[in-house]
Amino acid sequence: MSENIIYCYSGAGHCLDMAKSIARKLGDTDIVMMRSFPAKTDAREAKRVGFVFSCMAGGLPGDVEEYVKAIQIAPDAYTFAVEQYAGYLGCGLRKIDEIVPLTYWTGISNHSTAIWLMPHILTFPPTTPAAAQARIDRKAAEVGALVLAGKRSEKRPPKEAAFALMSKGLGKSHARRVRKFAANDKCIGCGTCVQLCPRENIRLVEGRPSFGASCMGCLSCVQFCPTQAIDIGKITTKRERFPCSRVTPAELCQKIIHID
Ligand SMILES: Cc1cc2nc3c(=O)[nH]c(=O)nc-3n(C[C@H](O)[C@H](O)[C@H](O)COP(=O)(O)O)c2cc1C
Repeated sequence: MSENIIYCYSGAGHCLDMAKSIARKLGDTDIVMMRSFPAKTDAREAKRVGFVFSCMAGGLPGDVEEYVKAIQIAPDAYTFAVEQYAGYLGCGLRKIDEIVPLTYWTGISNHSTAIWLMPHILTFPPTTPAAAQARIDRKAAEVGALVLAGKRSEKRPPKEAAFALMSKGLGKSHARRVRKFAANDKCIGCGTCVQLCPRENIRLVEGRPSFGASCMGCLSCVQFCPTQAIDIGKITTKRERFPCSRVTPAELCQKIIHID
């Protein structure tokens, strides 16, 4: 059993990259992915248990809330959480804190991977992807040092009642949006999207992806398609993708990543 466990949810790879940076600072860490039900839920032997995840629709992504409920943690373990968001923190940290009381929590903004909503470059205040990455790297180093030093947050994460309501509507809005997922003529039938889908919601039919109804909106398929062949309606046809260049699709699909 590793000394530290970080539970991570990531769609376009930025949170996984950050979890890896924090893990390198902590040493001896298992990163357990929460894109689907976590491969390891018994974390009782870990000294430190962390969560690194993205804000989605103002709340927690996918089924993360249910997954966190299944995790067992020693009563004296140090717990921490880091949320990446594009514009606002939302209620995700608070939701985790209600299940696993957090010793330390924090957030960091990045460009938006919600490609159908806005070009990722539209950030306020404006940043380049390189500047956002540098900020995330600094934050990861800071989080690693604070966690090792046993930092305690004085306040609980914000409740953000409006965001809690908004995130409840996520399922319905995705059910509508998923009808617009389609492969364009650039598709080479490589099946990367099929491998990446945490819900097994994509299959190849005559060499082209066919999308089912259980999308949770991680957008790994859209962001990591090697030929940018997956669109969500017309709005994404000319929009630049924003996958994390330091994470590969194969890595994102792993269940547990160990960092020494
Ligand atoms: C479906 C979806 C919904 C999102 N909703 C929000 C949101 O409500 N607020 C926000 O600030 N960022 C939102 N984001 C942006 C992500 O939190 C941000 O881009 C994050 O860095 C993505 O991390 P990842 O690459 O590990 O998936 C959303 C992204 C996606 C794909």
